[in-house]
Amino acid sequence: MSGEQNSESRRLRLEIFRYNPQDEGSEPHTDVFEVDETPFMTLFIVLNKIRETLDPGLQFDFVCRSATCGSCGMMVNGRPALACRTLTSDLPEEITLYPLPAFKLVGDLSVDTGTWFRGMSERTEAWIHERQAFDPAVQEERMSDDIAAAIYENDRCIECGCCVASCGVANVDPEFLAGAGLNRVARFMVDPRDKRSDAEWFDVVAGDEGVFGCFGMMACADVCPKELPLLEVYAYLRRKTLGARFSGRDRRQ
Ligand code: SF4
Ligand code: SF4
Ligand code: FES
Repeated sequence: MSGEQNSESRRLRLEIFRYNPQDEGSEPHTDVFEVDETPFMTLFIVLNKIRETLDPGLQFDFVCRSATCGSCGMMVNGRPALACRTLTSDLPEEITLYPLPAFKLVGDLSVDTGTWFRGMSERTEAWIHERQAFDPAVQEERMSDDIAAAIYENDRCIECGCCVASCGVANVDPEFLAGAGLNRVARFMVDPRDKRSDAEWFDVVAGDEGVFGCFGMMACADVCPKELPLLEVYAYLRRKTLGARFSGRDRRQ
């Protein structure tokens, strides 16, 4: 059962990728560490234990420890996951940890997701393109509960990069928007404060770097720690962009 604790303590064997691209003498390799498992141990706890007691030079990222900041994504036994919410009791005794692919390596398990997300945000202009300039003297317009809920759902993305790392297309094409990018586009398409027409969105999201470059096997949704409904997001984007393309009309919703 998920999260179940063993009555007998196990000795975990962790094989961890090591490489410092800033150090000319560094070569990619793996190091093996052994750690006694404790109840409700997460990979975050294991990595801190290794750094505190066995190797102070081990590089990895974390901030929140609660699946909120998106910093601690890594490949856990070949699958992208958040270290802070992965219980060792859900894993075998032999654990391999590698950095997320598709992002620039900082060192060991630490990657630079920020550059990828900034590039995606700039290419899609992921900010509100106002229909009208803000006027503090005018009463606020009310947004429908359904639209507010839809925006909130898209905004639950924590930018961990797990969907990008799992995506075969994103791994060979650094400009492919992947789950996080397509979800971000949908967030602004849904928002009635954004003035971009469906035809304008077509130029942003259609094509090989957008929703029509997606193979649709949904590895991204399988690994998303926030369980975002990415299948529905892609269906929405295809419907909206194809509608604009073939009807020649700008239809909202
Ligand atoms: S469904 Fe599309 S975005 Fe998701 S992993 Fe597959 S190719 Fe990438
Ligand atoms: S869509 Fe999910 S997996 Fe992708 S970055 Fe956002 S939270 Fe992470
Ligand atoms: S440390 Fe913040 S998501 Fe894991």
